[in-house]
Amino acid sequence: MSVSAVYSSQEQAFLTVIRERRSVRTYDPNVVIPREELREILSLATRAPSSSNMQHGRFLVIDSPELKQKLLPIANNQQQVVDASAIIAILGDKEGYRKADKIYGQAVEAGFMPEDTAKSYISRSTDLYSSLPEDKLREVAIIDASLLAMQLMLVAKAKGYDTVPMGGYDREQFAAAFGLGDRYVPVMLVPIGKATKAGHPTTRLPVSEVTFWNEVPSSTGE
Ligand SMILES: Cc1cc2nc3c(=O)[nH]c(=O)nc-3n(C[C@H](O)[C@H](O)[C@H](O)COP(=O)(O)O)c2cc1C
Repeated sequence: MSVSAVYSSQEQAFLTVIRERRSVRTYDPNVVIPREELREILSLATRAPSSSNMQHGRFLVIDSPELKQKLLPIANNQQQVVDASAIIAILGDKEGYRKADKIYGQAVEAGFMPEDTAKSYISRSTDLYSSLPEDKLREVAIIDASLLAMQLMLVAKAKGYDTVPMGGYDREQFAAAFGLGDRYVPVMLVPIGKATKAGHPTTRLPVSEVTFWNEVPSSTGE
């Protein structure tokens, strides 16, 4: 059964971004996205939701030609890490909750909550997150960072740029080469730039294949 929908032009514009985003692996190496524009794209990406709004995702923007070359062998020689305007490494900050006072301070300044309420939120979230085991903090950081990455790719597309999410790189080598230490988890690399070759079309499983209604079937099937 198909449901025909009538979309407003605003909805159409958004759906076009969703439908036309593709992983692009061939970029014009001469295109430079000004840092000011990158900052705007990153700022919109940070509107992504996060655990308790603690915003555990971080960006490491790699736009120096030397560092892109350094990244190349770490990223299995995938040429897009050299040719894209910038590589945005999406990191998870296992200690992101340390910014709770800043986050709630902003909310007070914006008039979203009184100072007393903010204080109690700060102490509650700091207590909660600082008592979590490392694997849980890692999980939270990866989830927040992944949402940030997806939002980044859609914002980039809306702004006329292309991206590709990349998990095909050596995370240990990356962490060592870029000095991540123990605090930051490398989640994904997202090259951003202007395509010289469109990403190839891909298909998706139908909703019926990926959706369960109310109960999950036995896991012995396909
Ligand atoms: C976690 C993850 C890791 C990926 N790693 C790579 C990668 O290392 N190199 C690459 O070219 N594409 C990579 N991709 C892109 C996928 O191949 C691509 O998203 C998928 O084929 C669907 O195509 P589309 O993004 O054009 O819709 C990755 C995607 C995800 C979500």
